[in-house]
Amino acid sequence: PKATQEELKRVAAHRAVEMVESGMTLGLGTGSTAAHALDRLGDLLRGGALRGVAGVPTSLKTEAHAARVGIPMLALADAAEIHLCIDGADEVDPELNLVKGRGGSLLREKMIEGTGGRFVVIVDESKLVPRLGCTGAVPVEVVPFGSAYTLGLIRKLFDKLPGFHARLRTVKSKAGDQQEELFVTDNGNYIVEMFFHDGIHGDLSDISDRLLRITGVVEHGMFLGLATSVIVAKKDGSVEVLN
Ligand code: A5P
Repeated sequence: PKATQEELKRVAAHRAVEMVESGMTLGLGTGSTAAHALDRLGDLLRGGALRGVAGVPTSLKTEAHAARVGIPMLALADAAEIHLCIDGADEVDPELNLVKGRGGSLLREKMIEGTGGRFVVIVDESKLVPRLGCTGAVPVEVVPFGSAYTLGLIRKLFDKLPGFHARLRTVKSKAGDQQEELFVTDNGNYIVEMFFHDGIHGDLSDISDRLLRITGVVEHGMFLGLATSVIVAKKDGSVEVLN
């Protein structure tokens, strides 16, 4: 029987948790794949197979999940060193560059996953892409002040690119009426979603620099050169580790 996507996410997550040793400080990722790693870590801590592990959560959602399953937590400032980060991704390119943040947590993820320790990405094979931006939005976190102006500056960066478009991310309003409202991140910011026809063909680090030079931009969801390995769970039941 073919494994479901959810099973593949769990396989990749469990494989990553095998790398965790007692006493480690971990970066705890966000999303449906990382959630399997949190559950597994909780089980191993409760069973006593792991001891003295602490996690730095990459989102409020992950913080709540880690608390539920009994993973002790540390604030980023209190973690002397983060030995290992485990997180999912929306896209992985052949150089192990990532798109992250379609769940909205890119800023805290990049702050924690960029601290220089090992960063293991866990995905099912549907996340492997030839180029970033192939399968959906590349998110950019922007401050609410002047966000429509900042959106205009982002559009201007790519106005020569056929098929490019960008918009502020919206969600269904909580009031339950058919209204949409702007999505707000854990940091009180908005998200601009950039869509590239057929993915990003240009120089990624140049595009990164140009985005970050826009004052209203806080951070973007391209994680360039940060992943140290990627664990890919495949439909045929095999697991490949890309380094
Ligand atoms: C959260 O903001 C994201 O960066 C997630 O890491 C990413 O969206 C992957 O999530 P899934 O594991 O749910 O696909």
